[in-house]
Amino acid sequence: MDLRTRVLQSQMPDPDDAPVWINDELHAGNPYLHGFYAPVMTEVTADDLEVEGTIPADMYGAYYRQSPNPRFRPKFDHHFFDGDGMVYGIYFRDGKVSFSRKYVKTEVLMDDINGVATTRNGMMAEFDLRDAEARGYEEVRNPDYVRDTANTTLNIHNGKLITGWYNAGAVYELDPVTLDTKGLQDFGGSLRTTLNAHPKTDMRTGELIGYDYADFESFYTYYVWDKHGALKHVARIDLPGPRLPHDITITENYSLLHDWPFFHDPDMLKSIGRRVVTFKPDMPSRIGVLPRYGTQDQVKWFEFKPGYVLHMVNAWEEGDWIIMDGCMQPDPRIKRDPAEGPLASMLAYMRVKSHLYRWRMNVRTGETSEESLDDLNVEFCLPDVDLYGQKTRYSYHQHIPLEAKTLIFTDLVKYDHETMKREMVSYGDGWLGSESAFARSTNGGAEDNGYVVTICTNLETYASECWVYAAQDIQAGPIAKVKLPSRCGPGFHATWVQGEHIWG
Ligand SMILES: [Fe+2]
Repeated sequence: MDLRTRVLQSQMPDPDDAPVWINDELHAGNPYLHGFYAPVMTEVTADDLEVEGTIPADMYGAYYRQSPNPRFRPKFDHHFFDGDGMVYGIYFRDGKVSFSRKYVKTEVLMDDINGVATTRNGMMAEFDLRDAEARGYEEVRNPDYVRDTANTTLNIHNGKLITGWYNAGAVYELDPVTLDTKGLQDFGGSLRTTLNAHPKTDMRTGELIGYDYADFESFYTYYVWDKHGALKHVARIDLPGPRLPHDITITENYSLLHDWPFFHDPDMLKSIGRRVVTFKPDMPSRIGVLPRYGTQDQVKWFEFKPGYVLHMVNAWEEGDWIIMDGCMQPDPRIKRDPAEGPLASMLAYMRVKSHLYRWRMNVRTGETSEESLDDLNVEFCLPDVDLYGQKTRYSYHQHIPLEAKTLIFTDLVKYDHETMKREMVSYGDGWLGSESAFARSTNGGAEDNGYVVTICTNLETYASECWVYAAQDIQAGPIAKVKLPSRCGPGFHATWVQGEHIWG
């Protein structure tokens, strides 16, 4: 049996450095705690790492990756989304590479460390509480049991590295060099709610653009902060009901707010407080186009086919048209297999089926069009993140095999959004990758003049390496492989930050 087949079947042996509690009766059968997914316990820093190949002289910056990594034994069934945020930084400077990995010192993690609380883990409340009473999980419905673990995204803004959390969360500021947690970032007191996981930094203006949503609120709170972190604009944007979006897209002049027909069933939420994610195929998807500093009365809503999108690639303006490309899930219904027991909904939810898709909106005439751009199953997509809001030609995605039982990235995919050609390269049997970020060459040049960076882990040895591809020829394979000092496990989102934002 080859290694890829083994991981698809979740039969990986556990690595030597995994915590012992993963084999407790409660956790022994949870694939998101074992093998490739086994938590790592240590914080690590290392300089001048061994490199196979050569680090290009025009790489100057850092690849950052967020990871869900439970530090303590979860009290209830563990959901992959519930892991404590652990941040990886791989720094490229003067042809040398250094590494750092640290936990985000969130309030909930510090409570656990100080013995104030014991590993509340509430994401299961969203998925598998059909037998809540029998399993003694009633208390999970208490909002206090939902951990904001700051484990999902990293963004650079105002020279600060800031975290984001899946369910809209608090923002923590990290030192971009040491990865030490500097504390909560509330933008001078102006962030009075939580913030969505994927706010966007417009690198032309330095502004940060994001919004808040919540279980019981039929509106978004939309924010724009300037390049110094001062609040520039805030607006309440009304909705037909509470929604469960994830991303936001920006163009030079507009922000695009998402209203997908995939949200917590409002009746269940109201009556018994159960968060059951439900698809409404009879409702349209809606994209709200808002001038960047606009208010409720200026939003134009455009309707499209029903579906759900976790992550957009980018959006931009072409005359009166707004073009938005992203990873569309035409049928996001959670197809639960009861045979998989109490974890069935979580396991099903992680089996993402999405492909590259384009939405077009004319802000003058109200016309729309939409089309699939490809049929390959891809997600975790990034353009050059310094070009959010501007027209981009290239993006980098992860291929997720449809037959995979757990969320794995087996191939790197590059799309050309003009020719709609794709290039694809496997990480190879026995290797899994991470969300891959584009590192622009310090020499400038064409949009794809630079490198694609990812962390790969070998499923037999559990060695992890940082692989660097020439972005203009990913199919040639990595031009450099950096030996990392520790097993790195799975990740969520990654980004690249140019060195001038880190070291000046
Ligand atoms: Fe995300």
